[in-house]
Amino acid sequence: MDLLVKNAKIVTPSESFESNIGVENGKVSSLSPLLEPAGGKVYDARGMIVIPGGIDAHTHMELPVMGTVSADDFYTGTVAAACGGITTIIDFVDSKPGQTMLGALDDYRRRADRKVATDYGLHMMFKGQNLGEMDRIPDVVAQGVPSFKVYTAYKSRGLMLEDADISRVMKKVAGAGGLVAVHAESETLIQSLIQENLSAGNTGARYHAISRPPAAEAEAISRVAGLAKDADVGLYIVHLSSKAGKDEVEKARSRGANIFAETCPHYLVLTDQVYEREDGRNFVMSPALKKSGDCAALWEGLRPGGVIETVGSDHCPFTSREKDWGEDDFTRIPNGVPGTEVIMPLLYSEGVRKGRISIFDMVRVTAEAPSRRFGLRPSKGSITVGSDADFVVIDPNKRVRLTADTLHTRIDYSIYDHITTEGYPILTVSRGEVVMENGDFVGKKGRGRFIPRAGSSQRVPKRAE
Ligand code: URP
Ligand code: ZN
Repeated sequence: MDLLVKNAKIVTPSESFESNIGVENGKVSSLSPLLEPAGGKVYDARGMIVIPGGIDAHTHMELPVMGTVSADDFYTGTVAAACGGITTIIDFVDSKPGQTMLGALDDYRRRADRKVATDYGLHMMFKGQNLGEMDRIPDVVAQGVPSFKVYTAYKSRGLMLEDADISRVMKKVAGAGGLVAVHAESETLIQSLIQENLSAGNTGARYHAISRPPAAEAEAISRVAGLAKDADVGLYIVHLSSKAGKDEVEKARSRGANIFAETCPHYLVLTDQVYEREDGRNFVMSPALKKSGDCAALWEGLRPGGVIETVGSDHCPFTSREKDWGEDDFTRIPNGVPGTEVIMPLLYSEGVRKGRISIFDMVRVTAEAPSRRFGLRPSKGSITVGSDADFVVIDPNKRVRLTADTLHTRIDYSIYDHITTEGYPILTVSRGEVVMENGDFVGKKGRGRFIPRAGSSQRVPKRAE
């Protein structure tokens, strides 16, 4: 036995039980309270909670955005992930101008393979420049990348697709057994509000949020849900930020669309009040932060029967120097914030400890559901005999202030430094290796593996479960 975790209180989406965990060759080899040490490391988890390693299905490491590149590369970003209890990330392949999807996929694999500290999978971004290679979609799926992200916004960045093209992509992806992810915001509404505000001299960060109201999200969700139902494709709404958007997901489900949503830690714990701060531009991401009622609706959506099945981070940090480019014009602020390291701490502290969700819900939305939806079963997302030994030990009493110094993401500020968590991950194990202990990364650069994902398990049921 390579590792024995003693006295673990293991939590699944439906129960908790006391057991020792035996680990051999990167897998959970046995689960029994009677298991005795047999060589290898021993870790005593008495008084701690042990849950499956988190799966963050939404990261953007080293992504080119608005004239710069997101601050974390595949090494520093996955170190941050591991330090927050995440053992698998799924990043988005973005083809450079002139690059094919398969060429871009090779490029991402080459860069990520030598850097990742956790395991990783990939989604494919399908942009305007990819319209000529619609027939390559099954080939991308065959490479273990069965999910495609399209945008209803960001026309000027070449990301937006027209509805007719989105519909064509959806039909192709459905035929290949894949899933379509959508960044859903109404481009026409946003652009007209941006122009209106800039013309009136409204240039501060608060106008970023005013130009991206809940209606922009709700309208786009309703539209793409109709297209997805028509194409009979599984539809994953990324970074849901508003109650109005959630209502549209619920309506689409009740009409029989195969739709599910993700929200992000920032939409759960921050509101648009932060845009009034002097450093408000550090909080600029799209969609923008909303009101406290929206946060409450999103927490509710994570509870059993809710339409928000996963929490992904949309991890895409920029330094304060880069954020400052938009000091006099909110449209010049690089969009994106860090998040992969805070998913588990915030869900535990702000969610479980404050009674907004149960610990079982937390395990479901951070591990079981992303594993099921993104074709990572049976190796990822649970602590069961034969599964990868990916788990995180949480000290329910450890208090940690989320400052720039505590967090590992490569930026010079923290958007969460007003929060001190009650409970924090103290040990992360990835395929049997301890990669984080007491806040320090102790794994190796490049130890992570690419996890090809299955397409067939991605089709979501036609009716709400
Ligand atoms: O604001 C967001 N969501 N940033 C992520 C990267 C991008 O531009 O989509
Ligand atoms: Zn994103």
